[in-house]
Amino acid sequence: MNIQSKVSRYSQEFDPPVRGDPITAERYISKEYMEAENKNLWPKVWHLGGLLAELEEPGDIVRHDFGKESVILVRQEDESIKAFYNTCPHRGNRLVLGEEASVPRIVCSYHSWTYDLDGTLSKVQDPDDFEGGNPCGKIHLSELRCETWGPFVFWCMDDDVAPLEEWLAPFPERLKGYGIDNWVRVLKLSCDAEFNWKIIRDNFNESYHLPTIHPELATFINDGLPDTLFEMYPSGHNSMWMKGHQATTRTDYHTTEVPAPLDEVAAAWGLDPAEFNGRTGDLREAIVAAKRKLGPERGFTNYENMTDQQLVDYFHCTLFPNLTLTMSPEQLQVLRTEPHPTDPEKCIFQHWCLYPPVEGMKEVVTPIGSVPLRHDEVARHSVYGDGVSLGFVADQDLSIGTSQQQGLNSRGFKGCHLPNQEKRIQRFHELLDDYVSGKLPEAGQ
Ligand code: FES
Ligand SMILES: [Fe+2]
Repeated sequence: MNIQSKVSRYSQEFDPPVRGDPITAERYISKEYMEAENKNLWPKVWHLGGLLAELEEPGDIVRHDFGKESVILVRQEDESIKAFYNTCPHRGNRLVLGEEASVPRIVCSYHSWTYDLDGTLSKVQDPDDFEGGNPCGKIHLSELRCETWGPFVFWCMDDDVAPLEEWLAPFPERLKGYGIDNWVRVLKLSCDAEFNWKIIRDNFNESYHLPTIHPELATFINDGLPDTLFEMYPSGHNSMWMKGHQATTRTDYHTTEVPAPLDEVAAAWGLDPAEFNGRTGDLREAIVAAKRKLGPERGFTNYENMTDQQLVDYFHCTLFPNLTLTMSPEQLQVLRTEPHPTDPEKCIFQHWCLYPPVEGMKEVVTPIGSVPLRHDEVARHSVYGDGVSLGFVADQDLSIGTSQQQGLNSRGFKGCHLPNQEKRIQRFHELLDDYVSGKLPEAGQ
């Protein structure tokens, strides 16, 4: 066994080779690389556009701006959902200007061309003034693919990309036990940030920064490398399993007593933390047993279909290229960065939090404090650095973004040097290179 395999745990089944392509600064700072992404990457992937819960009634609309593009998701009379480019076929005016809308028809604010919910032009001024006669019924909004998974609605610009569930593989199967379909989004946070979108993708593709950027997590998430499992899937997505309800097994951390906040968690599940003195690692299994016994009567009906791992651990699902779903048994965090419309050195960071509905539970503790357990459509957008929290762990991740972007601009930066445990970063960039250069990777490569 070599030194690398002693400290890094890649699942044998999901550990494809990497080529070792250099990861230089250009991809984080150049307009040319950004344009190549706009041409060859973003049109070829599925994008999470919104939630089914935001589109309850026919005429409910959610707008998703992405770079220079804008897409609207529209609930139809027949209950299906369609996605359209947010542009008027008359002379290109953007149709939906708010984050969301609820309308019987879509009316352009310029010359009032009016579209039915299915995108068909149904009313114009002076209909007889057109070569070939009244254009109503003949002109349609430009449509994109739209599919749903769990509580989410996705859109895709390309007809050749695999259907959504296939593209998401293996996560629909892996996440089935959590029962996320009816989870409730209580937070929709976002901010403008002064770094390239990939800075945070790289951050989510490694756990090397946990001891340094998130030291307090060590008391309840085991970030010890031998206990962390990395998997890289043929789809290009990857995951990281970390044991929860257990302090880190890193050699620089020692405790004989159950540390806070685990002591409170233990007590909340009817366990005496003192009984685990000297064997704090055993608490994790005891919590599994307590959750199995007490969970259903406390309203956690979703525990029933979860594996033991899912009941106590953290499952970080990082989807290529820019979507992360961080699962714990009582919380789903959606974390992603999207490119700025024109500046490669800026991005938009987004953080949504969803929770399982639990009968009788009125509030949930989120990364920014307690909030009511109900669907919240209010989007809270800020500018990073203005003091508004994006969640305490996310704030820590974002805190390195600007200075890393600055450092990448140095003539002295010659390219990344990655330890084996950051292999997911290497793979991400090699897939990205394949996309931007126009040679899409074959499935299974
Ligand atoms: S641009 Fe929309 S009606 Fe003229
Ligand atoms: Fe982090």
